Amino acid sequence: MSELLGFSGVRQRFSGNQTLTLPDWTLQRGEHCLIMGPSGSGKTTMLSLAGGLLTADAGHVSLDRQPLHELGEAQRDRLRARCVGLIFQTLHLVSALNVGRNLALAQYLAGQTVDWDRIRTLLTELAVDHLIQRKPDTLSQGQAQRVAIARATVTSPQLVLADEPTAALDDRNCERTIELLLSQAQACGASLVIATHDQRLKSYIKTTIQLDVPT
Ligand SMILES: Nc1ncnc2c1ncn2[C@@H]1O[C@H](COP(=O)(O)OP(=O)(O)OP(=O)(O)O)[C@@H](O)[C@H]1O
Ligand SMILES: [Mg+2]
Repeated sequence: MSELLGFSGVRQRFSGNQTLTLPDWTLQRGEHCLIMGPSGSGKTTMLSLAGGLLTADAGHVSLDRQPLHELGEAQRDRLRARCVGLIFQTLHLVSALNVGRNLALAQYLAGQTVDWDRIRTLLTELAVDHLIQRKPDTLSQGQAQRVAIARATVTSPQLVLADEPTAALDDRNCERTIELLLSQAQACGASLVIATHDQRLKSYIKTTIQLDVPT
């Protein structure tokens, strides 16, 4: 195993003099982890730092052995497109593009050749292949979430980051969603990191980082 993600001495300052101190953390390739803690404890911030969407005010975050603070914004964007699949609470599908083209765009941004066979196969696995020509705004919440899982994994990333993917779901749909995330992560050998309040996920992923209420 080798290190995929590392946090050391990370602190993030927000307006109002609030400072979040995050625990040191190492994630090995292929390892999965839950980030748990009360509202405001920094779960979403930790995912954003891991994916290079935010840069730490103090300390270091490294992804794929590259220290993110040493990279320029464009380099971080490229690294993220190549290595990371994101499933955030607002799904950020591109509304002007249909479902298939949303996946094709992710491949293009990752520097890959657009592979329509892979796109169709993945949408079929997630049971949304019939929606390939639909625009995101016309999908139900559950359909859009499946498309977001497909978009996050179509590039075979090393790291999949998901923010509260099961928060509003009943037990049956929670089980479906976590099983899809785990099977897609496994298919590309990716690590899955989920920020969540959802205690149900503990039976699927054993490693947990527990954040405290900020002081
Ligand atoms: N852009 C921002 N500007 C100011 N403060 C922020 C910003 N983003 C986050 N914070 C603050 O940082 C702290 C951590 O926020 P974060 O969203 O990471 O928490 P969380 O654990 O994901 O919470 P929740 O469970 O409610 O999603 C909170 O106190 C929040 O108010
Ligand atoms: Mg959050």
